Amino acid sequence: MSRRPLLAGNWKMYLTSGEAVRLAQAIAAISREHTDRDVMVAPSFTSLAAVAAELRNSAVLLGAQNVAWEQEGAYTGEISPRMLTDLGVRMAIIGHSERRHIFGEDNVMVNQRLLAALDAGLVPVLCIGETLDERQAEATFKVLETQLCEGLENVPPARAEQVVLAYEPVWAIGTGKTATPQQAQEVHHFLRQLLAGLYDKKIAETVRVLYGGSVKPDNIDELMAQPDIDGALVGGAALNPDSFARIVHFT
Ligand code: PGA
Repeated sequence: MSRRPLLAGNWKMYLTSGEAVRLAQAIAAISREHTDRDVMVAPSFTSLAAVAAELRNSAVLLGAQNVAWEQEGAYTGEISPRMLTDLGVRMAIIGHSERRHIFGEDNVMVNQRLLAALDAGLVPVLCIGETLDERQAEATFKVLETQLCEGLENVPPARAEQVVLAYEPVWAIGTGKTATPQQAQEVHHFLRQLLAGLYDKKIAETVRVLYGGSVKPDNIDELMAQPDIDGALVGGAALNPDSFARIVHFT
């Protein structure tokens, strides 16, 4: 089964609205060169409306960096799924390691956010990944299994197909240390086996699994050559139009 590649830029807490619009414009031009892959950008909440307007006539998908688990209510500082869809947002990153490790989000919260995103028609990008300590303690597969199973709790099969997974080893994020393509492939294959157990083989073969963590122009081709790597979630290298262009143009 062939899965459509997805190259996603996570702009984190960088860029003002004006800067975000200029980057979005450059990425829209880059993405026009390809019809066989999806491109997504996730600006800060404050830039979403301006970037949405810039991308109106583009195939680039707009993503948010997080999403609340209720559609509205007394949740100071949160942004709900319906607020996002109202702006034209199509995807939402959920459970990013910075949310988990800096802001204390756990698998239960991640699962609630994911369910609310799906309810609103947003495509969730569920991020999972082990820390360096967990890898060294040989707990990688156990940690990932828990994050995946608890993250997808109560997601029915018909919706599971829409979920995008992102494997982001915490020790590789923003550190310049990438998992080797073989290490990433081993984990991606394991995640697909877990999905087959949780759901079925067809769903396991349909769900896109992205790799994230120091993805750069010089390692994207080798990563994308792995059979179970369907795309990339890119931080640092997504902020520069030339390096993100090279990532989108992977061969
Ligand atoms: P990085 O970030 O590419 O800068 O390592 C990836 C991410 O946090 O999604």
